[in-house]
Amino acid sequence: MTGETPFEGVLRQIEDSVPFEPGYYNESYLDRRISARMRRRDVDDHTEYERLLREEPDEREALMDALTINVTEFFRNPEMWEVLRGVLREMTETKRQVNVWSAPCADGREPYSAAMLACDDPEIDERRLSVLGTDISDEALENARAGVYHTTRTTDIAAELEPLSAPEQWVDRDGDSFRVRDPVKELVEFEKHDLIRDGQMSAFDVVFCRNLLIYIDSGHKGDVFDTLESSLSPGSVLVVGMTESVPPDRRDRYEPVNKRRRVFRWA
Ligand SMILES: C[S@@+](CC[C@H](N)C(=O)[O-])C[C@H]1O[C@@H](n2cnc3c(N)ncnc32)[C@H](O)[C@@H]1O
Repeated sequence: MTGETPFEGVLRQIEDSVPFEPGYYNESYLDRRISARMRRRDVDDHTEYERLLREEPDEREALMDALTINVTEFFRNPEMWEVLRGVLREMTETKRQVNVWSAPCADGREPYSAAMLACDDPEIDERRLSVLGTDISDEALENARAGVYHTTRTTDIAAELEPLSAPEQWVDRDGDSFRVRDPVKELVEFEKHDLIRDGQMSAFDVVFCRNLLIYIDSGHKGDVFDTLESSLSPGSVLVVGMTESVPPDRRDRYEPVNKRRRVFRWA
């Protein structure tokens, strides 16, 4: 293709062959993930890597995994969850039904955290809570629906569950394996949804959109916020990641509940 740099050739190859839209994401993020795969394959030339992508389905899959970074935790940023505890106490006291959306939910630990917090805290009425987790990745959603997590060299599930007063009531532990118990699972559903392409979901009272915006190209952040804002009901709460923010041209639509913890009320 004329005028195309070798790096752009790799991006075109991704666009043509894996279910991932590189145009959504910022270039430095794409460059870091692609370079990591190239090092792994011992390739230092983008043209050569483009050929690998064309010829090897396994490499396409490995790159897709590397690009849809799905790192997550139970109770990620515990201080934010303390703010949310107060929000859920108040909402379940004053509303008949409280709908929570975790978008994107990766392997489900974020929506399960919301459901577990509600079950664990005697001042939150979990019977009024319903949680939806959505993500673009089928594999992440499959893991989320299974609800089984493992302590590994890099992930300590028992430590992640420390904000709960009785974790053993909400997860069934077998050595290094942790299975989310049915009373928690019954509060959570999962669905595939692309925050840029698929548009609004029904009205929610709490929406988490954490640790995706940092990867999104600035031109598409507005699309994500259009989706989120059309899914928020009046007085609802939006939570973004600790290193993320509401775009400046939209800030007057939100009141901080706790600015430091990135919890905002939709005015
Ligand atoms: C780092 S995880 C964030 C998980 C969780 N919110 C958290 O903060 O721990 C990012 C997730 O975004 C998903 N993702 C990437 N692009 C997306 C899109 N356009 N729409 C929905 N999900 C997307 C990925 O599949 C991945 O599971």
